[in-house]
Amino acid sequence: MDYKREIDHMRLRHEVTRDELEWLLELGDEPTEYLFQSAREVCDEIYGKKIYMRGLIEYTNYCKNNCFYCGIRAAHVGLSRYRLTNDRIMASVVKGYALGARTFVIQGGENPMDSDESILEMVRLIHDTYPNCAITLSIGERSKESYQKFFDAGASRYLLRHETGNRDHYNKLHPANMSYEHRVRCLFDLKDIGYQVGCGMMIGTPWQDVDCLYDDLVLIQELNPHMIGIGPFIAQSDTPFAMERGGTVDMTLKMIAILRLIHPKVLLPATTALATIDLQGYEKGILAGANVVMPNITPREVKGRYTLYDGKHGVDIESEEQIVELKTRIEDIGYELCIDRGDSLVE
Ligand code: 5AD
Repeated sequence: MDYKREIDHMRLRHEVTRDELEWLLELGDEPTEYLFQSAREVCDEIYGKKIYMRGLIEYTNYCKNNCFYCGIRAAHVGLSRYRLTNDRIMASVVKGYALGARTFVIQGGENPMDSDESILEMVRLIHDTYPNCAITLSIGERSKESYQKFFDAGASRYLLRHETGNRDHYNKLHPANMSYEHRVRCLFDLKDIGYQVGCGMMIGTPWQDVDCLYDDLVLIQELNPHMIGIGPFIAQSDTPFAMERGGTVDMTLKMIAILRLIHPKVLLPATTALATIDLQGYEKGILAGANVVMPNITPREVKGRYTLYDGKHGVDIESEEQIVELKTRIEDIGYELCIDRGDSLVE
């Protein structure tokens, strides 16, 4: 099969079938290079040589859920829990701003002690201090009314990974009190309110197969998100999946590239999880079509406690150091880390 013709065709069509997906995921080195190069060209045509930065603040590791893969699950009783005060969150925001961040991602577990009011207070504080910056919330499943309140207070983006686009697979990764339907409904509610929405999935979770990945593509097509976060699954030693094999760099990069071809304007981060399993993860992600990085600007004292998975990249370095290093690494491959809100061009 003439792989160049096939990939060129997908690039024009903005679509892949289930069988084409299977074929792409099995491609050898040379065709894979061509896939990555094509995805990078598509991204360059739209976003140029700019890589957008988001300052990530992991504001709490309390979580009421028990997702089987996640290290901050409620049942992980040995974990020392924290919730940063709004003052400490603001201190990280101020520091991030000085380092060039114009988007702040406030991420946390589903902390039952965080009322809508406490989230609103935090959003207002950031919004009043830096009205020119974008505030992204990533605090899990809430009611449409709560989402609306946060939006009205100044949060304009929301990240909620769908984790897998296949209902049966979802049920194998989550306990019975969580549902695929509810998660997807939250995503559509967020979109309906007017948020710029990010969904996403892990690559290589237990039982994931080509059909699950194809279902991810189908859901993403329906949702038409502004951003898609894709990272490899990495086992965490205090979870039921402690002994499971993790996702691969190859498969993660291929999914990034495929999504770039299908959704040229979408924002795609080179994730921390990818940087964790490969020392060149950020560079490889960008060269396969990613255009966002999310340096972790959580205060150093608590960084090590947001243990989603083992060996997480960056927990032992200061945010300044991480951003300076990222900047150089990005420039070394011919790109530029830019000081910009970096809004998605997806309508
Ligand atoms: N490996 C990789 N990613 C994980 N996440 C949670 N646990 C893991 C893990 N073990 C991801 C989920 C979640 C995001 C915050 O982190 O996709 O949505």
